[in-house]
Amino acid sequence: MKQIVIAANWKMNTNLNEAIDLVTSLKKLLSSSVKATTIICPPFVYLPEINSILKDSNIYVGAQNMYFEEKGAFTGEISPSMVANFCKFVILGHSERRSIFGESNELINKKVHAALVNDLTPILCVGESQKEREEGLAEKIIHEQLTVGLNQIDNIENVQIAYEPVWAIGTGIAATPELANEIMDGTIKSTLKSLYNDEQVERVPLLYGGSVNSDNIEEYVSMPGINGALVGGASLKSEEFSLIVTKAESVIH
Ligand code: PGA
Repeated sequence: MKQIVIAANWKMNTNLNEAIDLVTSLKKLLSSSVKATTIICPPFVYLPEINSILKDSNIYVGAQNMYFEEKGAFTGEISPSMVANFCKFVILGHSERRSIFGESNELINKKVHAALVNDLTPILCVGESQKEREEGLAEKIIHEQLTVGLNQIDNIENVQIAYEPVWAIGTGIAATPELANEIMDGTIKSTLKSLYNDEQVERVPLLYGGSVNSDNIEEYVSMPGINGALVGGASLKSEEFSLIVTKAESVIH
């Protein structure tokens, strides 16, 4: 049976009350969803609250980022073990981290190592910018993001990869399912297969991200190389997000 994973990236949105309302409502709406792995990634400060609301549910909690060091003089940072108290998953290398906060592939690789050591499943994000696509560099960029991001990672059984073309994030201009599949089933899978054995690679969930909503989710998960989605804007409304999860699940009925 095809694995389906739907992750919500709330980014820097919601106040505490809104976060509690959103997740309480999602818990109710998704109580019967069992086929998709559903992950909610709220801002750090809400993790304890969200984790306690979801602890008797079938919904997982994830963080949107973390630092790789375990402790020390890193003002403003959050360590992997702090995150692991409340989460099973962590988004790493999101394009906003790369472009706004200058995160390099090398730094992201250290975070991937630290996540795995702390039993967190990293959702490693890769994807090209509009300019890189126009210059014909998309495949090269993605190949590099994967090979450096996964450097010295021996086993990717506990890793997920999200393909998020930068030009599709928050723009309403989603990549066509065909284009997303071409990159995911093509570039991403072949890069992974050059690094790991085929069996291991086939078990790695590949998520598409960039303007996913309840109208287009089915087209993505129907593609052979796509297991689910990383959802930004459309994850901030409980009905819309739960519709995304249930529609994604309908593909494997
Ligand atoms: P979007 O964001 O769904 O709002 O395009 C996706 C993401 O940045 O993960």
